[in-house]
Amino acid sequence: MADALLHPFSLPTKPESDFINIVRGEGVHVFDDQGKKYIDGLASLWLCQVGHGRKEITDAITAQMESLTTYNVFDPFTNPVAAEAAERIASVSPHPDGRVFLGSSGSEAIDTALKIARLIQQRRGLGEKQIIVRRTRGYHGTNWGGTSAQGIALNREGWGDLVPHFIEVPADDIEAAATVFKEHGPQIAAVVTEPVQGAGGVFPPEHGYLEGLRRLCTQHNSLLIFDEVICGFGRTGSWFAGQTYNVQPDLITFAKGVTSGYLPLSGVILARAVSEELEAPDFKLMTGYTYSGHPTCAAAAVANINLIESDGLVERANHIGQRFSEGLAALKADGIIEDFRGVGAIWAAVLDRDAVATRDKMLTAGVIVRPMGNALGICPPLIISDEEIAIMVEAIADNVT
Ligand SMILES: Cc1ncc(COP(=O)(O)O)c(C=O)c1O
Repeated sequence: MADALLHPFSLPTKPESDFINIVRGEGVHVFDDQGKKYIDGLASLWLCQVGHGRKEITDAITAQMESLTTYNVFDPFTNPVAAEAAERIASVSPHPDGRVFLGSSGSEAIDTALKIARLIQQRRGLGEKQIIVRRTRGYHGTNWGGTSAQGIALNREGWGDLVPHFIEVPADDIEAAATVFKEHGPQIAAVVTEPVQGAGGVFPPEHGYLEGLRRLCTQHNSLLIFDEVICGFGRTGSWFAGQTYNVQPDLITFAKGVTSGYLPLSGVILARAVSEELEAPDFKLMTGYTYSGHPTCAAAAVANINLIESDGLVERANHIGQRFSEGLAALKADGIIEDFRGVGAIWAAVLDRDAVATRDKMLTAGVIVRPMGNALGICPPLIISDEEIAIMVEAIADNVT
């Protein structure tokens, strides 16, 4: 009989005993049940900004659990730490005067952002605006909305009918986006995009592309949604990638780095102009999750944001970027890799072949990266040292097969 645990994005036939059994984490490292030590070069799944085992966060979680472990924030209830987390998240975001809706996963954040975008258009009297424009290569989670927003075709296939009214545009072609707006502008509710596409292969935006989307959305009364589930909380060298690229979205989704993954938390930041559309006496927001505003998860977020600040990790991401770009440029100059791309602390090394074999050899060498087609994804905790960056670059050089 198969083992009970059904792993995500994995072969259901693979026995539990064939997986690498991670049992401990400390700083930039994780350890398996054989005592083998790995550099966590993907920060779990693009999320562990402050590194593993930070007592400042586990202490905050414990203290919160000892006072109020869980409670909902559906009307008429709230809790102080959920409100504090929302204030802190807004304050570091491009919308310090905006509002913050909380959920648990990136997928929940995306589905909520898509619903809010449509809702805003309905409330503006533009009910015909239902289309969501997505980009090829985009990854937006695996709930129904996020699956429909996926620009990675394989992730959309096999589930039957998805949510209607999605149009895909090629990832880097602003003219193609302009053509779609020309044809469908009055029907377009929103564009959803990762500022830096992550799971699709780590693609920073082409120069001027995000500005172009902003312009099209503004011209056509459509909303711009930045999915910052990976990019947020320092990853690109600013708190949010909208700040890195100086483009203001209307809605921002976040998850992962908001707690460094210590507990699940996600959400949607609404620009003031958007949230004002909801702040009408006749209106009640009819969406939300049991765990929206979960106090223990919120406490993890506040402690994590404090750590990102006190450790100077946003600035550190820029330094990490400098080191990786130098190291990867050297590998390219030596003909070891074909190319590289990235920004801040998120990079891809492009090989001339499928990257799985190299990833496997790097695991044996004690370095975790993620294979994505012919690219190796690199996204370490923001506390990674220069020496550890050098070890990662060397591990790529030694293991390209
Ligand atoms: C950009 C982006 N959006 C959404 C998600 C979905 O997040 P979750 O897996 O927490 O539902 C992910 C997950 O990797 C992501 O990278």
